[in-house]
Amino acid sequence: MQGETMRILGIETSCDETSAAVVSDGRVIHSNIIRSQEDLHERYGGVVPELASRRHVTAIIPTIDLALKDAGIDRDDIDAVAVTEGPGLAGSLLVGLNTAKALSMSWDVPLIPVNHLEGHIYANWLTDSSADVTFQPPRFPCVCLIVSGGHTELVLIRDHGRYDVLGRTIDDAAGEAFDKGARILRLGFPGGPAIQRAAADGKMGRHTFPRAWLRDTYDFSFSGLKTALLREVEKYRREPTRPKKVVSTEPFPAHEPPDYAPNMPAADIAADFQDAIVDVLVQKTAKAAEMHRASMVILAGGVASNSLLRRRLESALGVPLRYPTPQLCTDNGAMIAGAGYYLYQRGITASYDLDISPQLPLSTETSLA
Ligand code: KG4
Ligand code: ZN
Repeated sequence: MQGETMRILGIETSCDETSAAVVSDGRVIHSNIIRSQEDLHERYGGVVPELASRRHVTAIIPTIDLALKDAGIDRDDIDAVAVTEGPGLAGSLLVGLNTAKALSMSWDVPLIPVNHLEGHIYANWLTDSSADVTFQPPRFPCVCLIVSGGHTELVLIRDHGRYDVLGRTIDDAAGEAFDKGARILRLGFPGGPAIQRAAADGKMGRHTFPRAWLRDTYDFSFSGLKTALLREVEKYRREPTRPKKVVSTEPFPAHEPPDYAPNMPAADIAADFQDAIVDVLVQKTAKAAEMHRASMVILAGGVASNSLLRRRLESALGVPLRYPTPQLCTDNGAMIAGAGYYLYQRGITASYDLDISPQLPLSTETSLA
């Protein structure tokens, strides 16, 4: 493979996106097909694991087919298959992993196991165009803030595959806080974009939310914020008129949040709620960058799309900030193919007895095993 372009098919099914992509040399995206299941989970205000895995089963082959077609390449041109092995939902991970094993075996190409969090990090190495000669990869050492629906981790990256997790959430993830907050405020799902939209029309400073600083650590905590939000909106609860009879034929009954009076200032509350989450993320990330003399800071995960987070970080940092395009922040196959390339360069491939790892942590040991 030395000196030649390496084309990797990346497969991602760890949560509620079925995605497949073709990426060359960990940098250039040829295709990135993402089939979101938002329509399926929206009414429940969160991802229903059983429904997610069943949707992956029907979506995975058409998604891979389209990724190859969109890249304009034949399956013979694929040099390896990279797949998310964890962390994630067990039933969802199984669909991607088993499909990847089957393709790797029948195409006779290596199978590369990718940690989903490492995938999010490597979204920062990707570009849509090989003609983009100005696009430089991130410089080491860098500090990466991974903020997604399932994870909040502050990581010092010394080199490819050399991760020191400086801190992580001790309860809810930042994205989870946005999702739960949006559900309480009845703003829709996924919660992050909904809260950001609502907050844009709101006035800040009218509602007070706590910040869990967890002094002298880089850890985060967001569950108290959710409780404070519940208490805040409780002030606007509408008196019940008569009990509603709910008849559900669905396998999973939708949980309706309590009814609030129409005068609830949801936009103002959303603005202060968003501010409370972003405040802690920015201050801890800026401190980590300074203490560890990072050359730059990179963002990863769905919450990295948040414009307030980007703006505040940019002004708080003394070093450059890099973040992926919104499509590459949320779950996608290209980031898995991208990370897969750098893993392969370090000699990491899997055998066919590879199992999923729903709780897989991000660590140097795992990456160099
Ligand atoms: O990385 P991701 O696709 O999934 C996981 O691996 O968990 O992230 C999804 C999360 C959701 O919680 C969603 O609400 C959040 O990212 N998110 C945002 C924004 N866009 C997506 N949070 C805040 N602001 C946004 N603009
Ligand atoms: Zn993710």
